[in-house]
Amino acid sequence: MTHAVPRAEALAPSAEELATRFREAMASYPSGVTIVTTTDDQGAWRGFTATSFCSLSVAPPLVLVCLARTAQCHAAFEKADSWVVQVVPHRRADLATRFATRGADKFGRDDFTANAAGHPVLKEAAAVMECEAHVRHDVADHTILVGRVLDVQEREDAPAVYFRRGFHALAD
Ligand SMILES: Cc1cc2nc3c(=O)[nH]c(=O)nc-3n(C[C@H](O)[C@H](O)[C@H](O)COP(=O)(O)O)c2cc1C
Repeated sequence: MTHAVPRAEALAPSAEELATRFREAMASYPSGVTIVTTTDDQGAWRGFTATSFCSLSVAPPLVLVCLARTAQCHAAFEKADSWVVQVVPHRRADLATRFATRGADKFGRDDFTANAAGHPVLKEAAAVMECEAHVRHDVADHTILVGRVLDVQEREDAPAVYFRRGFHALAD
């Protein structure tokens, strides 16, 4: 007697295939680009590029960003009382590449100034959100950083859009 393989099982992709398809699907999802910055307990500026940024609630104003536990800056964000989210303008997409490069000299040039807490703020950001730490959750290999927005600055500047592993400008 033969047994039919259940349909769902027959079609289920291998874990490797699923991971590839998942990465491709996420690459086809366009997102804005942020650089998130803070200061570590030695007083050094830290930051990383993030597309995992999103708004969580308006009242209170909460935003979240997910940070890989393997990031060199993870320890700083795990302890930080506050941080800054900056929306990257398309004409400064070079900064998003720099802040996504492990070991890069991220703050070496004249692109940042310090806010009242001493954290770096990108002078040319399309928008800046100054956040205080609200809650952190470790999920899988990332930490979800939830920040309460204390202040916002905005400029009229075309944001960078990350799509299919490249930076793009919005078409009108
Ligand atoms: C467009 C883009 C978006 C990224 N988004 C995230 C993200 O949301 N979370 C994250 O942990 N890493 C993200 N990364 C990778 C980090 O920016 C990169 O690993 C960074 O170097 C980590 O910080 P570190 O240099 O302190 O290790 C992204 C990279 C790119 C190019």
